[in-house]
Formats: sequence, C-alpha cells, structure tokens
Amino acid sequence: MTRKIFSPYELGKLKLANRIAMAPMTRSRTSQPGDVPNEIMATYYSQRANAGLIVSEGTPISAVGRGYSLTPGIYTPEHIAGWRKTTDAVHQAGSAMFVQLWHVGRRSHSVISGETPVSASALKDPDKVFGPRPDGEYDMIETETPRAMTLEDIQNTIADYVQAAHNAIEAGFDGVEIHAAHGYLLESFLRLASNQRDDDYGGSQENRMRFLLEVLSAVSDAIGAHRVAVRLSPFVIEGFADPDPEIVEITLKILEKLSPMGLAYVHFSEHISRFETVPESFRIAARAAYPNPIMVAGKLTLEGAEDLLEKGYADMVAFGTPYVTNPDLVQRFKNGWPLTDFDADARLTLYGGGSEGYTDYAPYDPSVSERSGAPELVG
Ligand SMILES: Cc1cc2nc3c(=O)[nH]c(=O)nc-3n(C[C@H](O)[C@H](O)[C@H](O)COP(=O)(O)O)c2cc1C
Repeated sequence: MTRKIFSPYELGKLKLANRIAMAPMTRSRTSQPGDVPNEIMATYYSQRANAGLIVSEGTPISAVGRGYSLTPGIYTPEHIAGWRKTTDAVHQAGSAMFVQLWHVGRRSHSVISGETPVSASALKDPDKVFGPRPDGEYDMIETETPRAMTLEDIQNTIADYVQAAHNAIEAGFDGVEIHAAHGYLLESFLRLASNQRDDDYGGSQENRMRFLLEVLSAVSDAIGAHRVAVRLSPFVIEGFADPDPEIVEITLKILEKLSPMGLAYVHFSEHISRFETVPESFRIAARAAYPNPIMVAGKLTLEGAEDLLEKGYADMVAFGTPYVTNPDLVQRFKNGWPLTDFDADARLTLYGGGSEGYTDYAPYDPSVSERSGAPELVG
C-alpha cells in the first residue's frame, strides 16, 4: 500500500525524500572545552539520514542561552566548523537538516551558563535541568531564579538569534527551527505564569507574543523565511506547574500572524513529560488558521502519523525516541520490520557519554531472526 508518509515532499526549496522528520533530541555528546560538535555526532546523525528532514538537538545561540551541560552551541567559530562535519555527512547520506536554535531562558543555572539566567520575569522554573553536581558528576539539578530581561536584553537576544541563523547557514544547515516550546525563553513570554511584565512584552496576548514574532521576523529577514521554522507546545506543561488558560487562544493568534510569512513549517510538540491530550478541535482550528506546512511530533506510531497526514492535520511527522534505538527507522517502517524498543537501558545512555547507546544501535538485519525489541510502535 502506498502511504502518504513515504511520499516525497517539497519543503520550501528542499525536496525531501519523505514526510518523516527526526525530532530534535538533546544527547549531550559534545567535545570539551567549548561544547563543540564532533565526529561522533556526525556519525549519529548520518546513521539516521533516512528521515526526509533531521532537526538537530537543541543548540544554544549564546552562553547565557545554555541550560544543559555538554550541549552543542552555534555561536563560536569552533561550533560552526564542528557542525559542518554533521551537515556534510547528513547531506551525503541524502537527508536535509535544520538546526534547532535554543535559548533556555530560566531553565538553567549559572553553574551551567556562567551567568544568571534570564527570562520574561524573575520567576523560578519549577523543574530541574541536566548540570554539574558539586562533586563534578552530572545529574538533574535545581534551576536558579532568573532575572527579568531588560528591553536591551530583548534586542540583544534578537541579534543573537540572527547571528546564530547566519552561523547555521555557514555551518551548512538547510534552515533553522526556533525553539519556542517546553517552557524555554520564548514560551516564557507567551505564558501568564512566567510573564508578569508591564511593558510592551507583557500583559495582553499581543504583547506576550511580540518577542517571538520579532525573533521570527528578524531571522526570516536574515536568511529567508523558507529556511525558518518554529516549534510550539501549547498542550505540554513542561516547566510550569499548571496549564495556561490562554495558551490555545494565543497559539491560534500566533498561527494567524505567521500565516503570510512563508515559514518552512510550524512544528507542534505534543505528548512529552506532563501534557494534555490535543483535542481534534485544536487540530481543525490550527489548520484553518495556518494553511502552510505543519509538523507534528509526540508518541506517534506509523499508523497514527499516517492518520494525521491523511486527515490534513499535518504535512510532516516527526519521531524522537524511535530514532534513538532505530537508526534505520524509515526502512523498518517501509518493510514492516520490528522496532527496537526504547527501553530502560536506552534511557540510561540518553545524555552524556560516548558511542554506547548513541551510535551503536544497528540497522535491522532481516537475515537474523532473533532480534531484541518489541514491535509495539509498528502500526
Ligand atoms: C532524549 C531526548 C531529548 C530531547 N531533546 C529535545 C530538544 O533538544 N528539543 C526539543 O524541542 N525537544 C526535545 N525532545 C522532545 C522530542 O523532540 C520529541 O518531541 C519527544 O521525544 C516526543 O516524540 P517521541 O514520542 O517520538 O519521542 C527530546 C526528547 C528526548 C527523548
């Protein structure tokens, strides 16, 4: 049966082999000092270049934008040169790649970033982040209360996004995905619980969406809107105590504003950590507000993903954890081969370390009958 998910897709000026994306996943494998992308990362990504599009792990745009140790940056010459190894390898293997531009805002601590974290307001994130313990080992550590950004900080941060986007193109990426999900900086401006500003960037919905729209418009002016995407997560409650009463309304308003901009895609992250189930009414409203490419990620199965595509709620679908343990995910889907389970061992090697649990998951070999793993994700 021909499935829409395997059909080629034109995204901006890119011709993608299929509608499957590898979702952004932080894996904390950089070289130190300097958080530099390295050969092993190039191997990891190129092993997964069967996805039409790969979205890189969250990649800080500046030192103060860092929130997790050992994550790769895109703000030094070494970062640019390091990423070039990955983009070359991925392109050679036949896939396109966007870098996810990340500023974590208040989801950080000065022991990681070297500076007091910044956010919309001086309100502490309730969750923990991956960072160094006093004994030098890495673990999940408490966040630090941020300072509220000044208007000058906001302008400087927009400039940092623009510079990071230029750096990304120089590093060989096909585009950038602006991370505005999961409680990080840009989402902290959108939500009432983290934004108590009384200037042009707080209060009304128009004001709370201003920073995000200014970033998207400045980055689009810099590298072309067709190379700019954005990730949103209105139904995820990561980094917050409670759901936001206005998040659906503000998200739909953002989609209306983005509609004429000609962005590469809008990416909805669903179904991670604490979340609410996405109602079909939202998918219908989002499609009505935004006729351009939509990508959806979050606990998708092959059948669930195909269903979203067939119903027109998504144009591309992204898989995260299935790509951790199945480097050849598209081939497994196409052939109905079982997936290697994302099990407790896989979770242990997610962040930090070397090749173990990173580049050592083998492609499926149909000549070997006994395989580990459960086929639960095959629809
Ligand atoms: C180890 C790991 C790291 C992740 N890092 C990021 C990240 O850097 N940026 C981001 O937007 N989402 C991140 N995510 C969320 C994924 O992109 C994806 O939305 C999530 O895993 C749900 O999709 P899945 O069920 O197919 O795994 C991460 C998820 C995992 C498992």
